[in-house]
Amino acid sequence: MEGNYAIIVAAGKGRRMKCKINKQFIDINYKPMLYYSVNAFCKHELIDGVVIVCSKNEIQYCKTEVVKKYKFTKVIDIVEGGDERQNSVLNGLNALKNYNCNIVLIHDGARPFVTHEIISDGIKYSKIYGACTCGVSVKDTIKIKDKKGFSFQTLDREKLFLVQTPQCFNYKLITNCHKKLLQEDVKVTDDTTVVEHYDNKVYLYDGSYNNIKITTPEDLDTANMIIKSLAR
Ligand code: CTP
Ligand code: MG
Repeated sequence: MEGNYAIIVAAGKGRRMKCKINKQFIDINYKPMLYYSVNAFCKHELIDGVVIVCSKNEIQYCKTEVVKKYKFTKVIDIVEGGDERQNSVLNGLNALKNYNCNIVLIHDGARPFVTHEIISDGIKYSKIYGACTCGVSVKDTIKIKDKKGFSFQTLDREKLFLVQTPQCFNYKLITNCHKKLLQEDVKVTDDTTVVEHYDNKVYLYDGSYNNIKITTPEDLDTANMIIKSLAR
């Protein structure tokens, strides 16, 4: 039977967080940030296994402080990341090559508030369309700024969509596209761009405004507020 697997990338440097420890291991409500996303995927009944991608010198810490401590038995591997996010993702995809993987969900370890429904929908739509990502409509007006600091253009807000993770794919499709991209030396900031680069369609479905990426210190305050509101 072909299965659904998740890759959680946590091998970034967290430069914008300006914190001594990797942001993925900062506590939110007494548990490391990474715990929350790993927990969401592990407890989902349609997920068969989870691969975590970490910096080489944090693999052991991740194993003891997250995987063993919280008994995440669905974690099948913890692999080393690369210099760019796309290299980390490719290492995660390679770790799945001997599993019978049909659908792969690629998720940022810095996005702790992914929900059961977002994961279910990601599996559903990637089975239908081959590639999809969750996200939300943009609430603010977005402009393009010119080099001198002036507004160059105002974009049509109705058409804008703020992309989140998980981004979910047919495993063979995303793996082939990532491998080709590596040879072409093209830089991307997310995985849907990788399949789009080869003219594949990406379906956009509703994530949640709570599914934020923790990037800068103020996002930690927001995360602590979200967790309080969820506990209510
Ligand atoms: N990531 C990764 N490998 C990299 C770069 C990023 O696994 N070489 C992961 C991060 O750990 C994070 C996710 O990709 O969970 C989204 O990246 P981002 O928020 O940019 O995290 P960092 O790259 O760590 O932060 P910064 O850009 O501020 O340095
Ligand atoms: Mg980054």
